Amino acid sequence: MAMKGVLRPGHFQMRVLDLEESVKFYREVMGLVEQGRDSQGRVYFKAWDERDHNSFIIRQADRAGVDFFGFKVESRETLEKLDADLKAFGVKTERIPAGEMLETGERVRFEIPTGHLIELYADKTDVGNGMAYLNPEAWTPQAEKGIAPIRLDHALLYGPDIDGAREIFEKVLGFYLVEHVVLEDGKTDLAIWLSCSIKAHDIAFVRHPEPGKLHHVSFLLESWEKVLRAADLMSMNRVSIDIGPTRHGITRGTTIYAFDPSGNRFETFCGGYQSYPDWKPIKWTMDEVGAGVFYHDRKLNETFLSVVT
Ligand SMILES: [Fe+2]
Repeated sequence: MAMKGVLRPGHFQMRVLDLEESVKFYREVMGLVEQGRDSQGRVYFKAWDERDHNSFIIRQADRAGVDFFGFKVESRETLEKLDADLKAFGVKTERIPAGEMLETGERVRFEIPTGHLIELYADKTDVGNGMAYLNPEAWTPQAEKGIAPIRLDHALLYGPDIDGAREIFEKVLGFYLVEHVVLEDGKTDLAIWLSCSIKAHDIAFVRHPEPGKLHHVSFLLESWEKVLRAADLMSMNRVSIDIGPTRHGITRGTTIYAFDPSGNRFETFCGGYQSYPDWKPIKWTMDEVGAGVFYHDRKLNETFLSVVT
């Protein structure tokens, strides 16, 4: 097996202002599968084609935004090794016992220099995707319910020290830089896209004065046609669309950005190229950043830059 260490984004916990309104939105409009509730009142979801018990968790709070973003690692031995490596690198970690989240094993949690909480874990119960492990069908009725993404894909986080965050992801967790936007000084990164896989990004950061902010959490669709269908469903359900459907120059994904009922931005996207760790990172300069973010309009919109939760 070639994939080692950190495997993929595994869970993302987000704050919402009205729990039941949000449950209805993520279940009926987004088409996520509700997986359960815990004693803290958190509601757990997964995308239909995901196999682990949960990937997207919401809890009610008086402000929107992200609580933490968790990555699944290959094994418990890897979890122990990465915890030790983080500590050796000077990162303070804490252990959260198995079962604190539904159907999820022990987690290692740490804060990165952008002010976000990142987690690693090795175990989450495999509940399957509704299709058999022996001679399965191709999809289930859930695949057509609402927008129906196939997985939680990545998140773009805003915070101050993105260089410090990059160091931890690259030097300790084995991520690599896929693309970056460089400021006019020719050396400072405004934004970075990092991968732990052959995806064009598993996490991304934008330099921003306030720590711990969420720009968007992203869900993967299977085709450009499904991105258009998602836009239709957003219009039918009066979802506030930020931009799209359009294409990114950066990562080349086709995308829509929209807001959930609490004002958290989410993305439903498809495609983008596959990347490899030996590839040279792609660099964007500020005079072309508009095309990098929105390839068709070739300019940024105001909300994209300023609205974060
Ligand atoms: Fe994205």
